[in-house]
This record gives sequence, structure tokens and C-alpha cells, in this order.
Amino acid sequence: MKINLCRDGLIICLLTLAIAGLAENSNSPRDRSLFDDGWRFTKGDPAGVSNQLSYANIKAWVQACGTAFTANAELAAKKMPEGNPVNGDILFAENNFDDSQWRLLNLPHDWGIEGPFKQEYPGDTGKLPWWGVGWYRKHLEIPASDQGKKIYLDVDGAMSYATIWLNGKFVGGWPYGYASWRVDLTPGLKFGADNVIAIRLDNPPNSSRWYPGGGIYRNVWLVKTAAVHAGQWGTYVTTPDVSAKAATVKIHVSVDNDADADAMVTVKNEIFELGADDAKGKSIASLTSDGIKISAHQSESSEGQIIIKSPKLWSLEKPRRYIVVTSIEQNGNLMDSYETPFGIRTIQFTADNGFLLNGRRVPINGVCDHHDLGALGSAINVRALQRQIEILKEMGCNAIRTSHNPPAPELLDLCDRLGMLVMDESFDCWEHGKTKNDYHLLFNDWHEKDWRAELCRDRNHPCIILWSIGNEVQEQDSAVGFKTAAELTRIAHEEDPTRPTTAACSDIRAGFNDFRKNVDIFGYNYKPFAYGRFRAANPQQPLFGSETASCISSRGEYFFPVSTNQADGQGDFQMSSYDLYAPWWATPPDAEFAGQDENPFVAGEFVWTGFDYLGEPTPYNNDTSNLLNFTDPAERLRIKKQLDELGKISVPSRSSYFGIVDLAGFKKDRFYLYQARWRPNPPMAHILPHWNWPERAGLVTPVYVYTSGDEAELFLNGKSLGRKKKGRFEYRLEWNDVVYQPGELKVVAYKNGKKWATDMMKTTGPAAKLTLQADRGQIQADGKDLSFITVTVADKHGLLVPRSKNHINFQIEGPGEIVATDNGDATSFESFQAPERNAFNGLALVIVRAKAGEPGQITLKAWSEGLTGKEIFIKAAL
Ligand code: GAL
Repeated sequence: MKINLCRDGLIICLLTLAIAGLAENSNSPRDRSLFDDGWRFTKGDPAGVSNQLSYANIKAWVQACGTAFTANAELAAKKMPEGNPVNGDILFAENNFDDSQWRLLNLPHDWGIEGPFKQEYPGDTGKLPWWGVGWYRKHLEIPASDQGKKIYLDVDGAMSYATIWLNGKFVGGWPYGYASWRVDLTPGLKFGADNVIAIRLDNPPNSSRWYPGGGIYRNVWLVKTAAVHAGQWGTYVTTPDVSAKAATVKIHVSVDNDADADAMVTVKNEIFELGADDAKGKSIASLTSDGIKISAHQSESSEGQIIIKSPKLWSLEKPRRYIVVTSIEQNGNLMDSYETPFGIRTIQFTADNGFLLNGRRVPINGVCDHHDLGALGSAINVRALQRQIEILKEMGCNAIRTSHNPPAPELLDLCDRLGMLVMDESFDCWEHGKTKNDYHLLFNDWHEKDWRAELCRDRNHPCIILWSIGNEVQEQDSAVGFKTAAELTRIAHEEDPTRPTTAACSDIRAGFNDFRKNVDIFGYNYKPFAYGRFRAANPQQPLFGSETASCISSRGEYFFPVSTNQADGQGDFQMSSYDLYAPWWATPPDAEFAGQDENPFVAGEFVWTGFDYLGEPTPYNNDTSNLLNFTDPAERLRIKKQLDELGKISVPSRSSYFGIVDLAGFKKDRFYLYQARWRPNPPMAHILPHWNWPERAGLVTPVYVYTSGDEAELFLNGKSLGRKKKGRFEYRLEWNDVVYQPGELKVVAYKNGKKWATDMMKTTGPAAKLTLQADRGQIQADGKDLSFITVTVADKHGLLVPRSKNHINFQIEGPGEIVATDNGDATSFESFQAPERNAFNGLALVIVRAKAGEPGQITLKAWSEGLTGKEIFIKAAL
């Protein structure tokens, strides 16, 4: 019997929107329920205990957790020391502690996002207070009839250094804030009585390069099973042979026997088609393994293969899925029923021809994204993630890199459903850290457990094509770095031999030293100029751009004269949107496109980033190493001086400028530059800048056009300014000598000589009214689903008025609430929760949530002084 390093059952990610088909077999003793509602929360520790509870002091107890995820016999054998890790009682963990004065809230929860923003907080992590200690408490009534069951708490993610206390006693924890993990509550539970779970988080300052958030920011589940049950993430489905005619589906199930007696079990796997709405289709095949003997308190596994004829392949266009229903029987009784969605597809990275999905080349048109959801912070919300994916797909993006950590399970579930490839990443550092308190402090003790847990949690998702062992780790050129790379790759191959490993390498030398040999696929960050050299030296190794561009811009901002020396505005901490600007280590998008086109063997790229994120507001992060890529040394010096000055006067920026889409989810111009390349077929043309420049009458005001065509003619007030054609390795069309006069700019784009697309940019009248548009007019009344409402400051004809910053107020009526507002301005310190906000360059966003269980009509009203207000209706349905 193969030893399975990953014990216990797969988290089946349930979309809040469509869960019907994945409901567990109602006869099964397994019950997996969200455990998010009704927690009490406070910041800080009870007097005098903080030091006692520090990780250093209770390490021996925490390290006894997750022992199933190490192959090291000594570590695996670690037992929790006797007694509690501290002397005396911890007031906040005690059952009779009166927490009624604590705040009542539902998870997922991010304590940082409520702010307030403070100038003195670090810009690199969003100028928001996400660090510190926080406690969560919840009562849990366990019926006497649950006696004999196993009862677990599954935490999808808690930031960070979580410890869990049950009825005053330490029961487990996990330090890495991005990990998903399980605590066995069973031994300490009182059956037929009230129990109290207390969770302490301790989020160290200086532990991140971006906004990590703080709190239990992902879902928490209560899982009840029989003593004999599928292990945690205990099914592993692979498809070793796939053709149009048939697919071999290999199913590995690990079963835990937590009873005091040996068990003889039968494991039955039945495969169904899975509809987009999660409805199970017809049963296709089944496989039964009989007579599996499991000694008391041991685990065993079953493995077998099924052939599926004419398989329906998972692809980007048709992300078709199947589901395995695993039943575990003992003496004819159903002990567990467990469901694993999966997909059938082949993936292959080649050195000569990039990446192949189902045998066909698919260029990786990917983006890197951090985990925060803008104004919603890091608290996971399925609809907010789904909206991001929809926007990315509209651009032609087909891949997401989960920079630089394991993602929320719901993201992978959505990528499976919607057809999006994923590069699943583990760490931003190994033993050598990037900030004082980051993961390097945990690496030695935890990397194996964290890595195996991530692999086991995620390996059934068809969307995942690459395991990334790290981002820009300091060890890329150290004498030991390649050994760590080898270890992490070996672990990945042990847990999942079906996917290759990679690392995102910023050090050019990593492509030519032993580091390279210890990843399957090589990823370069920001090295389009080195692709040819890499291939010449390593002709057998597939290559891709693991992180590219890092272009910086603010939506709707344009500075003159247009040159790489004029990226920043006049001290307003914005970045010009001519899309020419990148820090010294990075490149404008076009340089990466050329690198890819000149070297067609490269599998594609992951752009930094799809969406703006909280933190890292380069170049305004008081870090003079972030000098822009100025070629002129005098100009470089001028900017350095300017940045030094900025450091002194406290830069207000709190979020990044890297996104193709801004923090509110509004498209920047760059969206169309990428769309033109990634979706060459739909006719599209996009003009920039806007055409409201009263102060520039008679001045040269360059006009750029992004188009999926190959040629275009620009007209100003009906007069042709010439027809231009894209040259080799050119991706935008430029009219650099346009003299501004108000009126109408029009472009007619051509493809292969035929008229292809048009776009128009008009000088608008003054701001006259607000317009409102909801992404969805009907949402679920489940307390989670969201409607994203775009508010536009418009002239009397309805045209967006560029540069308008009007202050807008919002009010909601009916069974809904305003969860957050935003405008995408990286320098705004307005609270995300405020029902009012300045527009930023004509736009603002209101995020509305329906109240749980309260169907009806929600009305959102928006008004602003001097403008005609507007209201919009959203239906909340059960
Ligand atoms: C990269 C790094 C990213 C981000 C980016 C900004 O070097 O991997 O996390 O910091 O730079 O350009």
C-alpha cells in the first residue's frame, strides 16, 4: 500500500452562487458546513499575557500540528506537549469569559481594511493597520448524538500565526497566513454541551511587501465525519492517458480509521459529468475496491483506474468538468460520501513550441495578482473574485499567477469553472527574507508542511498548470539555493507528478547555474532581452515570462511632454497613462511583446499586474531604488532628488499603479493594449488621451491608438492626421505631433486593408449629471452576493467628463447595504466604508450587498452638488 503523505479530505469549493449539485449525499454521516457566522472579535490580548503567547514561547505546541504533511519521521512523530503552553488561564479562551462587549461579526473578516489610512503607516503595505493581535470567539453546541464522530475545524486562511483554543485548552494552529489547515477538535469537545472556540492571531509588522490584511480572511468550516472517513484532501484524481477516444482516470483515495477497532472497508468511486450549474449529469463509470483493512488509528488507501470513452475535455473555451463521488462502506453501512470535481485535459510545456493544452498551442496570456480585492480588502468574496476573472477574460487573459502565495480555494474553483489557467505559487522568500518578519522566519520549520498542504489541497484542479516554488528568492545564485529548489521540486513531484515546477527568477544568473536545473520549466521575471541567450544555453528547457512589464499608470492621467522622462505629474503622485513607464528593473508592455515575438518558443507571460492592489505604490513608496527607467543620467538624478524629497514630505500613495485595471476594477488604457494582442479577432480600436485640454489649445498633444487592426487613420474635427501602419514589433499607433483643438478625435482602424473598427473621443461639456450602471441588476439575498455599481460624472449628453473629481454621496434603501466605495485613486485616503467619495477622473464605484434572507428591491441613490442625481434599483432574490 502506498504511503499517502496527505491524509484527510479534499475541500470541495462551493460557489455561494451555485451549490445545489455539490451537496453531499444526504445519507452520509459527513457534514461540512460553513462556520463563518456569529463570531465575537476584539483586538489585543488580555492584560499581561502577550509575551507568553508569542510564537517563540509556544512553538513546541504549534509544531506538533500538520505532522501529516512531513516525510521527516522525527517531525511527523512530534506530539503536543502535555498541558497548556502557558501557565494559568488565558482569559479570552475561557468558556465563561463574557465576550458580549466584543464586536459581533461574520467571517471572512479583514481587520485592516477599515483603516483609518494614516500617513505614518508604511505605503508598501497600504497605509492601513493590518498588523497586531486579534481574538475571535464562538460558542459551539455539540449534540450528544455526535458522540463517536470526528469533528474538525477547517480554516482556509487566517493572517497569521493562528492558535486555536477549545474550552480554554490549546488544540492547534498554523503560522503561515496563506495556508489552509485543519484542527481536530474531537478530543477536547464536550458532547451534549456548549463549547467555546477561541482563535488568536498575531500578525507581525514588517512581515509583507504588500497589503496582507489581518484576520480570519477566508472561510472556516466545521466538518463532522464518522470515525472511518476519507482523509483530509484525501482523493487524488489524475488522467494519465487522454485521447479523443478514451481517457484513463486514476483515483487514489486515502481513508482514515480513527476508531479504536480495526476496520474492513469498501471504497466505491462513481464518476458523473458535472454541469456548469453543478448539477450532476449521468453516471459514467464506477470502480469498487473491496476488503481494505485499516488498523485502528491508521490510514490506508485505495487506487484504481476507470476508462471514460469519448471524454469531454476541459479547455479554456469549454471548461467541462466531471465529479467523482467516493463512498466508503463498512459492514454494508455508508461511513462517508465525498465528492471531488476534476477535469480531463493534457498539458505540456515544450522547449520549442511553448505550452500545449490538449495538444494545441495556447500562448500564456497571463497576469500576476495579489489576493486583496481592493476596497473589500483581503476578506474573500466569491462574486468579487468572479468579477475580476470576467474582466480579465474580456481582455483575453487566460492565466493567473497567484503571486506570491497559495490562493483562496474559491479562486481555483472559479478558474476551473470559467476556464482560466493557474500558476499556483507558494512563497515570496525562503531562508533569506525580504522584510524583517516575513516567511524566512518560518521557512526551516514549516516549508515542507506548507508546500505539501498546498499541493494536496490544490492538485485536483484542472486549471493548475504549474507549481511555483517561489518568487525572486534571494537564493537564486547562492551555493545552497539550488538545493532548496531541488527539495521543493522533489516534494512537488512526490505529491503531484503530473505537473511541472517552476520559479519566478529575477536573477539573470539563475538561468545559467544549477538553480535552473532544479525546476522543470524556467521562468524569467523582466528579461525579454535574455530569452535568446537562455535558449542558446539551455535548448531543452521550456521557458516563459513568469513576471513581465510592471508598467505603471493612473487611470485617466496624462502628463506632457510625452516622453519616458515625464511619467510623474506635477507633484500629485499620479502616473501618466501613455503606458511608457516602468521602474528600472521592468519594461513597458511593448518590450515584452517584442521579446515574445522574437522568440516564439517562449510559452507566454504573466504581466505584473492584472489589478492594482493595496500597497507597493511604486514609484511613490519612499524608496529611491525605484527610479524610473530614465536613459538620461541628468534626468535620473533629478528624479532621484525629487523622490528623496517625496520621502521627506510623506508620500500619500496607498495602492499600486501596476494594474492593467485599477483598484476599483475600472479599465485603464493599457487594458486595450493587451486586448488588442490577446484577442486579435474582435474588431477594436481605442484612442488616448481624453480630449478635454482647454489649457493645451495650440500645444502638441500626442494621440495613441490601441487596435486589434494593423493600420489606422486619425481624424481631428474631420481632418485626416494621416494613416499609420504597425511596423514589425510595434504594438501601438502614435500620432506624436497632434496640435490640440477641442472637438472630435476619430480613428478608423483597418485590418488587411479592410475597414475594421472605429473609436471616437470628444471634448465634453461641463459636468451636468450622474449616471449609474450596475454590473448585475439582480443578486442573491444571501448576505454575500454583490452588485458593483459604476457611477459616472457625465455632461448633459451622457459623456464621461475627464478629470472630474466631484464629491458624491450615496444612500441605500431596502434590504441591502453599501459594503464599500472606491474610485481607483491610489492617493485617496477616503475610508472604503464611507457612503460618500470623490470621483476620480469621472468614475466612482459602489459595492452593494443584499441582506441574507431578505428578498426585495434595493435602491441606491447618488447625488452631488451642482449635478443631477440618479438612483438605481437592484433586485435581491432568494
Ligand atoms: C517584482 C516582484 C513583485 C513586485 C514587482 C513590482 O520584482 O516580484 O512582487 O514587487 O517586482 O515591479
